[in-house]
Amino acid sequence: MSEAGRQQGVSIAVVGATGAVGEVLFEVLEERGFPASEIRPLASKRSAGRKIRIGGVEREVLEARPEAFEGVDIVFFAATGALSRDLAPEAVARGAIVIDKSNTWRMDDSVPLVVPEVNAFALDTHQGIIASPNCTTVGVVMALEPIRRRAGLRSVVVTTLQAASGAGRPGVEELVRQRADRAAGIEPKAEVFATPLAGNVVPLCEDLLVNGYSTEELKLVNETRKILGLPNLPVSVTCVRVPVEVGHSATLLVEPEVEIPVVDVMTAMSAFPGVVLTHDRGSSRFPTPFDVAGSDQVWVGRVRKDLGSDRLWLWEVSDNLRKGAATNAVQIAEALLERKLLLKPGAV
Ligand SMILES: NC(=O)c1ccc[n+]([C@@H]2O[C@H](COP(=O)([O-])OP(=O)(O)OC[C@H]3O[C@@H](n4cnc5c(N)ncnc54)[C@H](OP(=O)(O)O)[C@@H]3O)[C@@H](O)[C@H]2O)c1
Repeated sequence: MSEAGRQQGVSIAVVGATGAVGEVLFEVLEERGFPASEIRPLASKRSAGRKIRIGGVEREVLEARPEAFEGVDIVFFAATGALSRDLAPEAVARGAIVIDKSNTWRMDDSVPLVVPEVNAFALDTHQGIIASPNCTTVGVVMALEPIRRRAGLRSVVVTTLQAASGAGRPGVEELVRQRADRAAGIEPKAEVFATPLAGNVVPLCEDLLVNGYSTEELKLVNETRKILGLPNLPVSVTCVRVPVEVGHSATLLVEPEVEIPVVDVMTAMSAFPGVVLTHDRGSSRFPTPFDVAGSDQVWVGRVRKDLGSDRLWLWEVSDNLRKGAATNAVQIAEALLERKLLLKPGAV
């Protein structure tokens, strides 16, 4: 907690303080020197009374109930979608701004869905709730936006390779457990994932719908269109779970509106805030989940022209718990401060 924070008085609550995203959110707030005057960790009844360390200080976890939002300026929701649906309006009614990590509010027309480097301007019309995108969407739109600004976008084909932590703590715990079972010669059980993930690749993230797509795939399509302001953009997706702890990767086949040389794409990527281009033709330098875990950037590599068309291939990787979740949420809070959009007088 910074001295500036104490003086400026931005009071924060985090719903989901004991979860995978919540834990990283506290680290990111601290690392970025977010001007917080108070941090209230909230979780379920199960965790109430538990002590967690935030910025070197031990704090008691409180149950997430409407009264817990009294006097709070910003509430980060990193829990379940149902909880966000029930409690986010309660927080707003008490004068707080909500930054929600769940899927609940993202496609609501009155709710801005924001990746600050791409569409911070959308915050200007917020009505109390702001949504942060799905962890896969964040990396994908960060890789697309430099091309969109330079050459427009006609269509995108995406295949994701998503880490176990995209399914929260239970996802990582299941992967670790399954690895140990396999090593011990025991057939692993799958509860979080559709089938055992250890030593495997699973072409299903979340739930399969009757139309053959998964809920995760539809999120990626709809959220990408909303953030980029391209409601009819053809986005073709397959989301795949891979046995990696942290870091979502994706291959993108991008059709720009006008032809753009690869060198111009690389220049645009390098100049875009929050994107790191890893490129060294002729050598095998490219970003991997292992390399980018713990980083706040979106890493792009293997930029090349499609062999049969003017489309472009990209490889993109980011830390799903950081830029895909916690960092993006904290950047939204920072953008609110920069744009003087906090509701409470005297809070900024
Ligand atoms: N993991 C990712 O890469 C990622 C990326 C982007 C967005 N998200 C979204 O972020 C949210 C959190 O994900 P996560 O990965 O951190 O999940 P997680 O590790 O499973 O943590 C869930 C958190 O929610 C809390 N919670 C659950 N039910 C609750 C209730 N009834 N009342 C109060 N708190 C409750 C849990 O508290 P207890 O410990 O008390 O149960 C825990 O702190 C989800 O909406 C997820 O879709 C996740």
